[in-house]
Amino acid sequence: MPEGVGKSWALIVSITALSIAYFAGRIIYRLYFHPLHHIPGPWINAVSRIPYARHLFAGTTVNNVKALHDKYGEVVRLSPNEVSFTSGDTAWQDIYGFRTNKHKGHLNMRKDPAWYAPPPVGVHIIVANDEDHSRYRKVMSHSFSEKALAKQEVLLQAYVDLLVNRLREVTSEDHAPQDMTQWYNWTTFDIMADLLFGEPFGCLQDLATHEYIALLFNALRGFRFSYVLFYWPFARRLRSWIVDQKTMNSRVEFYGWIAKQTQKRVERETQRSDIMTEILKHNGEKGAELSPQELVNNNGVMMTAGSETTATLLSGVTYLLLKNPETMAKLKDEVRGRWKSYGDITIDEVNNAPYLLAVLHEALRYFPPVPTGFERRVGKGGEFVSGYFIPEDTALAVSSYPTGHSERNFRDPDLFVPERWMGDPRYADDKKASIQPFSFGPRNCLGKNLAYAEMRLIVAKIVWTFDLELDPKSDDWMERCKVMTLWEKPELAVHAKEVVRD
Ligand code: HEM
Repeated sequence: MPEGVGKSWALIVSITALSIAYFAGRIIYRLYFHPLHHIPGPWINAVSRIPYARHLFAGTTVNNVKALHDKYGEVVRLSPNEVSFTSGDTAWQDIYGFRTNKHKGHLNMRKDPAWYAPPPVGVHIIVANDEDHSRYRKVMSHSFSEKALAKQEVLLQAYVDLLVNRLREVTSEDHAPQDMTQWYNWTTFDIMADLLFGEPFGCLQDLATHEYIALLFNALRGFRFSYVLFYWPFARRLRSWIVDQKTMNSRVEFYGWIAKQTQKRVERETQRSDIMTEILKHNGEKGAELSPQELVNNNGVMMTAGSETTATLLSGVTYLLLKNPETMAKLKDEVRGRWKSYGDITIDEVNNAPYLLAVLHEALRYFPPVPTGFERRVGKGGEFVSGYFIPEDTALAVSSYPTGHSERNFRDPDLFVPERWMGDPRYADDKKASIQPFSFGPRNCLGKNLAYAEMRLIVAKIVWTFDLELDPKSDDWMERCKVMTLWEKPELAVHAKEVVRD
């Protein structure tokens, strides 16, 4: 063999040997010496992120995480640096809670940058640091108080009535099944656009999905790529092959539209009771000021967080009721027996309808609109979570769907049983506090009251007005829902027949 060829071979062999040694060393370290080596989970997840990322892309991540918890227990190592908990009764406080009592002096855990992408320019309330967050929240929280909600009721009722009337019109002429996922999206997006910008998308009027809603859904699908790009920055070069140009541009385009709508709304100067009126009234008070860019960014969050989530829960609860006829019958009895007329169904009234409230609680357990978890990073020095020491900079969350479906937390977790929330002794040992669909602590959902009001009014008025029947083509609707960051929902085909009253 010529001397040059021999040298090249020796070099190749040395590089290969060094690479093998490096990767073998890394595997051994991650399995036996990494500060998370005591957390149970499959060995392959402990050494590589690929198994977890694969499920993220396939839309099967919550089923996978649930299966891992079933096998390994209440805490699981999902990837070399990620941990999931289903011990919600203690983990919510430890990860997300206000830093009081045993957590006094500890910092809030920060949002995990692998999961939370900032808007195209600057930040918004979801990704802001603690200082900016509390400034934003001071301005924005006025819009979501009980008092503000009472003033917004006229607007909410108008849209719920529009939903009912348009559905009545369409189904009286056309007996084809209706896609309820679409109807709920139309309603919640119209409501939120009107509360923010003083004008709806016009979906319920036109019976069509507005182009910017389609754009937003496209942007949400693209969110999984942020995770990949965070851990594998070199994938940026491959991005244009994996993600089409439309998805890449959709967030920027969506925020551009939000900016235009915000500007128009600010110029309108109305005193009508809506979210923006309250924000503009309180913006500029001491310690509570939003710049024009921050206003736009937070409107972008509210437009997304306030519509898609509520519509998801409404689709989920409709499906679950139709799959459980006895539960639907009990709800009909309550709704149709409790009020004398449709007009009696107000926010105050629905807030006191026990079976309706239990049905919605159970749907939030069964089909949480944010199904993965709200990922955080552990701060300096590490923290104890549910009794496990979790080292600094670990990514962690209470996983919503797996927590709600864990036999450690709930009896018959895969049955839809609203009675568990109404003191049924069979479910006395359920760990009800393990369910926090609106999150917990200082960063919990700001729009919870509004979401409850919308969901309660819509379910009550739909059940009052229509008898619903699931079309066979949607019989396995929930199994076909995928988690593409949030739930990606197929058509929910339902026949709606108006109830005839004397
Ligand atoms: C069923 C409906 C809803 C669910 C399940 C839900 C869930 C959540 C969750 C889990 C968070 C925390 C996210 C995190 O920690 O990363 C959140 C935050 C937020 N939600 Fe909702 N949400 C719903 C409806 C709404 C509505 C109607 C609005 C109204 C605009 C809204 C506005 C917000 C805002 C502004 C935040 C950020 C709060 C902060 O960081 O301080 N949400 N939501």
